Amino acid sequence: MWDERYAGDDYVYGTEPNDYLKAQAELFARDARVLCLAEGEGRNAVYLAEQGLNVVAVDGSAVGLAKANRLARARGVSIETRLADLAEFDLGQDQWDGIVSIFCHLPPEVRQALHQKVFNSLKPGGLFVLEAYRPEQLLFKTGGPPRAEWMMTADQLQEELAPLHFEQLQEMDRPILEGQGHTGLGAVVQAVCLKV
Ligand SMILES: C[S@@+](CC[C@H](N)C(=O)[O-])C[C@H]1O[C@@H](n2cnc3c(N)ncnc32)[C@H](O)[C@@H]1O
Repeated sequence: MWDERYAGDDYVYGTEPNDYLKAQAELFARDARVLCLAEGEGRNAVYLAEQGLNVVAVDGSAVGLAKANRLARARGVSIETRLADLAEFDLGQDQWDGIVSIFCHLPPEVRQALHQKVFNSLKPGGLFVLEAYRPEQLLFKTGGPPRAEWMMTADQLQEELAPLHFEQLQEMDRPILEGQGHTGLGAVVQAVCLKV
């Protein structure tokens, strides 16, 4: 499905980074090793690489990752891409200074298992940054998956990401204008979590 969605020349979510990630990017040290989950066509990974970070982008779409590499080349940076199903992807132990999850909407059992791996895979002091749609997004019809259970709430994140320490956790409705995929007011949850 995602290969088909990404088949055109256009970048479905644009080539500029997600607003929330951009606002948090300075939390990462230059040369930090960062994993971008479900990174798609690479807009966030490429932005972080432009800030001097070492970025690995994982996604299940070969077409998306090819476009991510193309965007990186066009911007004069490099990223590492890994084609994998997040239901099976090994995040490793004490591997990452940062893990980024921007609109990574998965079946709930896959998401919960993935979130349970985040704590161990971060280095001490590592950060997890997330923005995702909340179930209320179904009313807005401006993007996101068609199922409420694939979306997230702040309460769910606190449960699934324990024992990470939440530096930020907020739910809000905000305009999201990201390519043809995200087209207006959106109901989101945002989080920055620290592995103490
Ligand atoms: C809404 S897009 C977000 C892309 C990117 N994070 C962004 O903000 O531009 C969701 C992404 O999740 C990926 N995805 C969905 N299910 C996946 C899975 N089981 N394993 C790996 N990637 C998956 C899709 O290929 C797609 O690129």
